[in-house]
Amino acid sequence: MTCLADGFRWVDTAADWQKLAGCLAFIDDLADFRAYKDQAIDGLGLTAASRVADVACGLGFDLVRLQRRAPLGQVVGFDASRALLAAARQQLAGCDGVALLAADARRLPCADGVFDAVRIDRALQHIEAPGMVVAEMKRVTRPGGIVAASEPDWASFSLGADDDPAVTTIIAEWTAGFRNPRIGRQLAALFAVGGLATSGHLTQTIIVRDWIAADRVFDITETIRRCVTKGLIDAPTAERTVASMIEHAGNGHFAARLVIHTVTGRM
Ligand SMILES: C[S@@+](CC[C@H](N)C(=O)[O-])C[C@H]1O[C@@H](n2cnc3c(N)ncnc32)[C@H](O)[C@@H]1O
Repeated sequence: MTCLADGFRWVDTAADWQKLAGCLAFIDDLADFRAYKDQAIDGLGLTAASRVADVACGLGFDLVRLQRRAPLGQVVGFDASRALLAAARQQLAGCDGVALLAADARRLPCADGVFDAVRIDRALQHIEAPGMVVAEMKRVTRPGGIVAASEPDWASFSLGADDDPAVTTIIAEWTAGFRNPRIGRQLAALFAVGGLATSGHLTQTIIVRDWIAADRVFDITETIRRCVTKGLIDAPTAERTVASMIEHAGNGHFAARLVIHTVTGRM
């Protein structure tokens, strides 16, 4: 089965790509995710006529938010996955002023300086050579425009409150699935290397207390299955660990926590 940590690298070749799409839709309804997204979009300084791009837009939920802020402008979503773009097209039907284009984030099919603002959200964590993406985002932004990235720092991720070695193993296995697990804390440096002066840096701690929601967002069951298959933990330990997290969640003592960084740079 596809794991959410590495599956977004190759959505279109995953037999169960709907799992990836379902997770994006689920996340979009969670208050903490909405909070950082709203802050990130606020930081773009959009006007009604802005031209704005969302790189690696997934199902396009943020395109709707951008279109509301720039109703007379132009909103473009780029993504490498044709399956996600097809689903995005369906949900954006009737949303004027929004275009969707298939593209690798490292090679955007547009001229230099055509956007007032360009953002990316939770995609640099999956993409090899994230500096190339930032350079490309900068290329397509006009002088004086804004480039913004929101990315997690998986080194901040915690599951529950225990110092359980099995949980440490599960977190290590999950984190290893990302190409750039520490990209959130590295964003400001990445922007500086790319010649972008940081004009804003916000963090949001995502806290998920419900076990089923945490499993959906952080793919805990699949990650534990992988740990058992690889012999990193044995099956009884896996069962005990899950039972303990579920029990703690039932008592209100469970939380999965993750810090998301949003860095904004002005051209
Ligand atoms: C975790 S999803 C985030 C989607 C969206 N930004 C959101 O916040 O819901 C990561 C997205 O990156 C896209 N992606 C992965 N590698 C890519 C690449 N090299 N170029 C463009 N998009 C890519 C995936 O198809 C997926 O839509």
